[in-house]
Amino acid sequence: MERILVLDFGSQYTQLIARKVRELGVFSEIHPPELPAEAIKGMAPKGLILSGGPSSVYEPHAPLPDRGIFALGIPVLGICYGMQLMAHLLGGEVRHAPEREYGGAELWIDDPDEIFRGLDPSRPYRVWMSHGDRVERLPEGFRPLAHTSNSPYAAIADSTRKLYALQFHPEVAHTEIGRDVLRNFLFEVCRASGTWNMRSFIEEAVERIRRQVTEGRVICALSGGVDSSVTAALLLRAVPDRAVFVFVDNGLLRSGERERVERTFRERLHGDLRVVDASERFLEALRGVTDPEEKRRIIGNLFIRVFEEEAKKIGDVRYLAQGTLYPDVIESTSYRGPSATIKTHHNVGGLPEEMDLQLVEPLRELFKDEVRAVGRELGLPPEIVERQPFPGPGLAVRIIGEVTPERLRILREADRIVEEEMKRAGWYGRVWQSFAVLLPVKTVGVMGDSRTYEHVIALRVVESIDAMTADWARLPYELLERLSSRIINEVRGVNRVVYDISTKPPSTIEWE
Ligand code: XMP
Repeated sequence: MERILVLDFGSQYTQLIARKVRELGVFSEIHPPELPAEAIKGMAPKGLILSGGPSSVYEPHAPLPDRGIFALGIPVLGICYGMQLMAHLLGGEVRHAPEREYGGAELWIDDPDEIFRGLDPSRPYRVWMSHGDRVERLPEGFRPLAHTSNSPYAAIADSTRKLYALQFHPEVAHTEIGRDVLRNFLFEVCRASGTWNMRSFIEEAVERIRRQVTEGRVICALSGGVDSSVTAALLLRAVPDRAVFVFVDNGLLRSGERERVERTFRERLHGDLRVVDASERFLEALRGVTDPEEKRRIIGNLFIRVFEEEAKKIGDVRYLAQGTLYPDVIESTSYRGPSATIKTHHNVGGLPEEMDLQLVEPLRELFKDEVRAVGRELGLPPEIVERQPFPGPGLAVRIIGEVTPERLRILREADRIVEEEMKRAGWYGRVWQSFAVLLPVKTVGVMGDSRTYEHVIALRVVESIDAMTADWARLPYELLERLSSRIINEVRGVNRVVYDISTKPPSTIEWE
């Protein structure tokens, strides 16, 4: 299979590069920066992309690629730090720029060929810059292809060796010609065929699972969400007789969730499903706990314990399959780049080490919308594929403060109304998430002739493409009105509804 390898030097945009390449129909995957040239040669990629990164090439611990990559005869595209690396390692000169360049810049194309083919040299294009260093002197064999007012070498190339480099980021939406440049690199320079699609992804993933899961059983925690359902469907294609699925009812689920999962799983996926009711254990463990990270830790640890017990009953379990997506990975670890831990997502940490299991994570490189596309291609029904994400720790992170059975009841009822009304108004599928949050502060209200003193429900409805950034949805007033009046009238214990109008960043999507 044709592929493009992206070497990751720590940029927050690395995954976007891989994703844009896939969108253009060429499979692409991310690898660590020091991947040896020999190994790369063995994989025979159509091209290499060196990502950006936060380092400076002269720093003592700056990540460097194997120099041999430039002599493999494989086309290379360096982006930002990747460009500086290329210049530095091939004999050019890189310096701190007199002025750092962050944000939009106007790019003038000097050589409308190869990676700029089809673009107009007589007008500037908006591109996105983010760098402190820049190339001052070109390595031998290189020539400039484009400039901005601050960067004389905004794009450079050595066509003979098929080495190209950009000071700007073609992978971000703010670069208006980003797609054209990547397309030219893939098809003009690398001569890729562009025939990769979700069907090929599935074939590849199934093949990979088969190669990995060769003995014993693979266990998969099913949550009922898109990610775990798609993971389950892939496992059932790859190794149907080795896969066992466990659904843990942690008592923090939405109304009717357990029944819904059992039904869809049995009717649609026909796998071996074990349902464990551990709700009392979870609620007991959470009693009196108010700190958000403490709640996550408790839920995560107990989940591991329950899961381990179940695995023992199943026997001969060697692998753990998880529907981890790329945003979970970067938000939870600093494995790929500088992103700090913001919230501990329990579906990533803990489990495999404790249980001595090998991880199977077929969706690790994908974004949510890509997973949905895979799910559709696998024939999963819309009620699964179009579902909004739901956090692993469930309603516990939507009840501020202590989780109690009464608070869970209130939140469940409000949550059900939110889902119903969002669907009825045709808004459910148009937003990333829509949910209720219970604020256990009491405020005064009046119902009939009497004073009330009850809880507040906050509505959180956000638009996003990957949960890394989000904006609050501009819902119609009529819908907000219906949500508010139904929640206040129908949910005992609530007398006020507010709408959360914060963006991420600086807020997060969930309240805890
Ligand atoms: P935040 O609140 O960090 O959420 O902006 C980003 C996305 O992640 C989901 N989320 C979680 N998912 N375990 C999960 O599996 C968690 O602990 C967790 N916390 C947040 C959240 O619903 C949103 O889609």
